[in-house]
Amino acid sequence: MALRIHRGALAALLLLLVVHAIDAARAPEPRLEMVTTAASGGAGHTAGRARAAASTGCASWRLGVETNNIRGWYSIPAECRGYVSDYMFGDQFRQDCAVAAREAAAYAEALELAGDGSEVWVFDIDDTVLTNLPYYADTGFGAEPYNATYFDEYVANATAPPLPEVLELYEKLLALGIKVVFITGRHDYQREPTVKNLRSAGYHTWEKLVLKPSSLTLGSSVVPYKSGERQKLVDAGYRIVGNMGDQWSDLVGAPEGDRTFKVPDPMYYVG
Ligand SMILES: *[C@@H]1O[C@H](CO)[C@@H](O)[C@H](O)[C@H]1NC(C)=O
Ligand SMILES: *[C@@H]1O[C@H](CO)[C@@H](O)[C@H](O)[C@H]1NC(C)=O
Ligand SMILES: [Mg+2]
Repeated sequence: MALRIHRGALAALLLLLVVHAIDAARAPEPRLEMVTTAASGGAGHTAGRARAAASTGCASWRLGVETNNIRGWYSIPAECRGYVSDYMFGDQFRQDCAVAAREAAAYAEALELAGDGSEVWVFDIDDTVLTNLPYYADTGFGAEPYNATYFDEYVANATAPPLPEVLELYEKLLALGIKVVFITGRHDYQREPTVKNLRSAGYHTWEKLVLKPSSLTLGSSVVPYKSGERQKLVDAGYRIVGNMGDQWSDLVGAPEGDRTFKVPDPMYYVG
């Protein structure tokens, strides 16, 4: 009996090994071919393979960006312009946002709140609660240099749409009794269009809206400013239960908040 089971298990294991060996023998071939022979195939195949190889490379690049492995970059790789465009306008970006918002909502719903109104959730604004996709779609999805004149016009216009998944999360947090604080890299002189834009996009209430003092010099890291503003909240008696942004510089630097959530953004890097 014991021997029979043993034999059966052995047979199963052998079968697994054979299947695995066949898989291993088959699987890498097309993958290797795709990467190494893109330049030498027939004309039609070459274009397809080059596109596939670029797409694979761009997917790896995006993962590197999202995990903060790739830092300090000024524009997206030129060959990834089409990839980033497809990502931003396709289902993947919205699905990725939905996962972030869903996890954040599940976390918030499970919190034990003090019930004294001291819990706050910190949100970044640009490409977190509002999307600047209209601006970026017009400027190469981050492939072209940042145009401050155009972006200032875009902000003054106050027409940035909300990120729907984040707006939904915002409503859930308010319903739970968690207050919302916006800490943005936008300057204090942009308060009026920012308030107008938040309201028209559906963000109707907040505890605080913190904008960057114009005296802060451009080009320096926003981490001291953003973490400093979070420290002020803690000093004032608030508990930061959550913190959401599209840049790692929104999320690092003590006090970070009890949990942080990153919204995807493959279009630009803010240190
Ligand atoms: C930047 O934007 C402004 C305003 O839209 C435009 O006039 C200008 O041509 C742009 N500059 C570049 C280099 O694209
Ligand atoms: C400003 O808003 C108008 C009307 O919605 C739009 O046509 C225009 O492209 C916007 N300009 C910028 C710079 O966002
Ligand atoms: Mg942002």
